[in-house]
Amino acid sequence: MTEREFGSTESTENTEKQRYLVTSALPYANGPLHVGQIVGAYLPADIFVRFLRMRGDDVLYICGTDEHGVPITLTAEREGKSPQEVVDFWYDHMKETFDRFGISFDNFSRTSTPIHAKNTRHFYERLKEGGYISEAESRQMYSPTEDRFLPDRYVEGTCPFCGYREARGDQCDNCGNWYEAYELIEPHSKVTGGAVEVRETTHLYLDLSQFSGRLKDWISGQDHWRSAVKNFILGTINSGLEKRPITRDIKWGVEIPEPGFEEKRFYVWFDAPIGYVSATQEWAERIGEPDRWRDYWQEPDTKMIHFIGKDNTVFHTIIWPAMLMGVAEGGEEPYILPYDVPANEFMNLDVAVGDERRAMQMSTSRNLAVWLHEALERFPADPLRFYLASTLPETGDVNFSWRDFQTRVNGDLIGNLGNYVNRVLSFTNKYFDGELKRPAELSAEAEQVLADFRETESDYERKMLDERPREAHTELLAMGRRANRYFDAAAPWKSRKDDPARTKLDLYVCCAMLGSIAYHASPYVPESIERLQGFFGGPIAPIKARRLPDLYRTSEAKPLFARIEDKDIEAADEQLTRAVTG
Ligand code: MF3
Ligand code: ZN
Repeated sequence: MTEREFGSTESTENTEKQRYLVTSALPYANGPLHVGQIVGAYLPADIFVRFLRMRGDDVLYICGTDEHGVPITLTAEREGKSPQEVVDFWYDHMKETFDRFGISFDNFSRTSTPIHAKNTRHFYERLKEGGYISEAESRQMYSPTEDRFLPDRYVEGTCPFCGYREARGDQCDNCGNWYEAYELIEPHSKVTGGAVEVRETTHLYLDLSQFSGRLKDWISGQDHWRSAVKNFILGTINSGLEKRPITRDIKWGVEIPEPGFEEKRFYVWFDAPIGYVSATQEWAERIGEPDRWRDYWQEPDTKMIHFIGKDNTVFHTIIWPAMLMGVAEGGEEPYILPYDVPANEFMNLDVAVGDERRAMQMSTSRNLAVWLHEALERFPADPLRFYLASTLPETGDVNFSWRDFQTRVNGDLIGNLGNYVNRVLSFTNKYFDGELKRPAELSAEAEQVLADFRETESDYERKMLDERPREAHTELLAMGRRANRYFDAAAPWKSRKDDPARTKLDLYVCCAMLGSIAYHASPYVPESIERLQGFFGGPIAPIKARRLPDLYRTSEAKPLFARIEDKDIEAADEQLTRAVTG
């Protein structure tokens, strides 16, 4: 037996295999990833899909870079590069960073591919056939000094809804509302800071108002959606949906198949979500089954789940579903609608400034963020994943702090879970040469702890299937505490002298709990659990799923996690403080 084959991760008896298409928002390929993005759309999705795969569900996990639009051209202009150079560089950078962090996409694609341009034009043609597209003159911001239109983020000003002063031309980062750039108060060019004026230009529009009724009916029936998301959407629909421009005066993006639009491109938010379809098709081609993408997009029993940050809500819950409805109309080309859109809140930074600590919004432009690739140079992926999972912004904004990271890792990951693993393995090795047979009968205490475990396992599963990995994480810690308590009460170092049969039984039960803990920890700390399989001969499985095995085998264990030292935290913290104080 090789080390790797020693242990095994077993799927629970999952008689109703469910098909899932899970996506994470396509990040703009214009800069490094920070932990705020990670806790919004990537880590929760990854934990979720890892859990589903263990259960034996049919899951496809899709993502890719969003390579069009003003975020890209602005970066290119600022850096004196071509947009293509910018996206090529950041595509590689992001792909590698996600990989190091253990994000397990089935395909990480990009939106500058030919198949994606074709899909985007196809969606457009279908929506046009359905009567949802119109052409109209519109008022856009124009910079006389730069002699060009300034779409979206080229313009900044004060938000007409909440008064936030750095609101972008298309959307407010602070309150999530979207509007026309000319509605901004005191709009100015992001590039020059100079004044802008309103000029007429022709654009194509998608008529969302025609979808109001259908969207409302659909969303009203989604009782499993987070109420914050559902209320936001219903509010937006009730305040009236309008025609939205889907083209821009810009030279970078998907070309528009209409005469007179040669100098314009599709709006990035028109093409980007279609990227989910393109990435699925690319995956299907790659595995040599080009039609397989249809299972995930066209079979009504597929559950499609879009993990996003809350600033993307309106696009994923109104515009994108409307596009899917429009394209699917007539039935020749059916598309499913999202089953759920778990939108996460924001993560702020808790930074030491002088003697006090301050909560600050992460900001890419001010270099005020915890960049994932830098964090991964300081610490391994698993402890970072563990900490971030414990503080996912599922129900409200949260703070990131390196101190909390240290406390969580040393206290919960090592003190609770890691400690349990070490104790069980070392006593089993020492007293029983790493072999424990299934006892003929269990004690009352053993029956009780197993019953408690089954219950916690169910709570964990329910929360996880509800797309709440942070809440499931608290159940994982509860398992660790319960198992440690059992171990303490069993006190094998004592019982071994007067009742060795009892010691054996207790350690056998401890191994069963260890298998369950490892199973439930594995979506959070996958690499560590893979290493555990080198010295714990499983099964790594929930207790509730199966009859307990005839035999547990263990071998000499190495610690799974290293303590986080003060000096490493101080160094990480200092870097943040420097970013704040300049
Ligand atoms: N690039 C967008 C952002 O970072 C998200 C695009 S999600 C997609 O905010 F659905 F459009 F792909
Ligand atoms: Zn606002």
